[in-house]
Amino acid sequence: MMKINRDPCWLQGTVSNTNFKTFSIEDKDRIVTTIREEMSILFPDTQEISGKGDLAFVFIQDEELGEEGYYIESENSRVVIKANCSKGLLYGFFYIYQQLRQNKPLVTGRSVPDQSFRMINHWDNMDGSIERGYAGDSIFYKDNTFRRDYDLVRQYARLLASVGINALSINNVNVHEVETRLILESSLPDVKMLNDIFAAYGIKTFLSINFAAPKKIGGLHTADPLDEKVIEFWENTIAKIYQVIPDFGGFVIKADSEGEPGPFAYGRGHDEGANLFGRILGKFGGLCIWRCFVYDCAQDWRDRSIDRARAAYDHFLPLDGKFDDNVILQIKLGALDFQVIEPLSPLFGALRHTNQIIEFQLTQEYTGQQRAIYYQVPVWKEVLDFDTKYDYEPSIVKKLLKTNSVNPKLSGICAVGVVGMDDNWTHHKLMQSNIYAYGRLCWDNQLSSEEIAQEWSSLTFSISQKAHEKIVSMLTTSRETYRLYNAPNGVGFMCKPNVHYGPSIDGYEYDRWGTYHFADRNGIGNDRTLNGTKYVQQYSPTRCQEYNDVTTCPDEFLLWFHHVPYEHVLQNGKTLIQDIYDNHFDGVQRVADYQKIWESLSGEIDLVSFKNVRELLKEQYEMAVEWRDQVNTYFYRKSGVVDEKDRKIYE
Ligand code: GCU
Repeated sequence: MMKINRDPCWLQGTVSNTNFKTFSIEDKDRIVTTIREEMSILFPDTQEISGKGDLAFVFIQDEELGEEGYYIESENSRVVIKANCSKGLLYGFFYIYQQLRQNKPLVTGRSVPDQSFRMINHWDNMDGSIERGYAGDSIFYKDNTFRRDYDLVRQYARLLASVGINALSINNVNVHEVETRLILESSLPDVKMLNDIFAAYGIKTFLSINFAAPKKIGGLHTADPLDEKVIEFWENTIAKIYQVIPDFGGFVIKADSEGEPGPFAYGRGHDEGANLFGRILGKFGGLCIWRCFVYDCAQDWRDRSIDRARAAYDHFLPLDGKFDDNVILQIKLGALDFQVIEPLSPLFGALRHTNQIIEFQLTQEYTGQQRAIYYQVPVWKEVLDFDTKYDYEPSIVKKLLKTNSVNPKLSGICAVGVVGMDDNWTHHKLMQSNIYAYGRLCWDNQLSSEEIAQEWSSLTFSISQKAHEKIVSMLTTSRETYRLYNAPNGVGFMCKPNVHYGPSIDGYEYDRWGTYHFADRNGIGNDRTLNGTKYVQQYSPTRCQEYNDVTTCPDEFLLWFHHVPYEHVLQNGKTLIQDIYDNHFDGVQRVADYQKIWESLSGEIDLVSFKNVRELLKEQYEMAVEWRDQVNTYFYRKSGVVDEKDRKIYE
């Protein structure tokens, strides 16, 4: 029986107040064993019988359900979960648990996930550190080997499965020396252990690999994807992996990006690179997930002809349709890098003959590093519901991910992971909500930000309705709060270089990363219009026109697309400079309000969670003040314009 010694988030309570005294389940595979075990944890009073239990798990054949969907039937007090495969039964089981725990009626009928791929990418290194991880060390590794805490891994697997996550990669996309060896025979038994734990919860395991492995560990002098010896290296390596782990998912590959090796070094295209892996992995039913985060990270800031935002589209659009059927392109949601506000990557909608998944980031790299409240559903919904306005149907992102993929089953969503060794998984208790929400929204794209926050809160805390409402209001407004005190109007990157925490307005301004705001005494912003870098042209004609025109470009994206004077009047009627001042004062005020709201929950919330959030809110407040004062002072000094409301701006 599994030991649950960690904060189990939303799987903490048992359900005993049902009429279920018995359950029945047909034997099939290890996922069925998981369901049995979960029944004993979450419905401890229910006894297994064969035949017709009060809660019955039944295999059927129903094409529309696919491998993961389920069907709930309820007659009198008997509930039946039907599915084609045990994965569907598992998801149906967690659905029932969550509904009953929230005292909600069971909705009968069919449930099929909206997105096929629902993945987490871990950026864990084998020394135990996590790239951009802020919730403690890796749960998988320490001291350059595997941590082998299988109870903990199992607890994580059940958290993921309970919200429908079905794939994960277990190491950083930047594959360093030790991790390059994860594909070698000596590592495979350990990889298999993790693979099998996740597989028991319906989750496929992937490894991030180093494109230059043939050179680094294969004794070759090249990693050229068309070189025969290189091909042989990968054929042997991949065959051995599948010998040990027959249900292994495949590879995630970051190539030619931020110093990682790739096909460009050999004059090859990314299609040639990705297809090498696609072909070989395909023989075993594996997949190659290839990232589009490719740009020049050694840019000369003096050279105004380069625009990093253009890079992914410029590199990958010409390759549309040239990838093998089991290659998937993984595209960050925005064209730069997980900023608080970024317009959607223009590859979505434009790329029409290539399997594609959109990449989110659960870990709060640029958004408070698990020390600020930043509930991400509003961001995700903005992009999933975004209409690219191409003149074909469907042009909405959540739909076109599937329809523009060659194989709709190989489309969907992935997100950079967030958990670490911290007792509560996510460092900030309230930020557990992002993992829960991520899974729920991937499954059901129609759910609202509020609905998901409510579900998470009621599954997580035993508190009054009023208290739940307060938590939901904090969560659902938190992204806007963070936006208000951060870099203004979509300009991005005013954070401290490398660490990406706290303000440093000019921190990246004369650096090589291609992330500039171009503020001078007259104005600020990137000219990405048709008169500037022409990035705007990468969108559909309708969107291009909207963004190109300073009078129709949405305020929140203004400085992403335009360089404007400080006196420019926004669509909201204010001047840019006044809007910057107002937003930064408001943002801080909103964090102060959160502190008051949280204090009002004292006595209701368990002490550990209460103190955790109280301390982190204090830190968030201090950081918000720092952002406010640095941003306001910076722009006051540049522009010389005083605040209309005469508030304190330092000189
Ligand atoms: C960002 C992040 C890096 C990460 C990279 C990626 O640039 O800061 O740490 O490696 O994204 O997505 O590959």
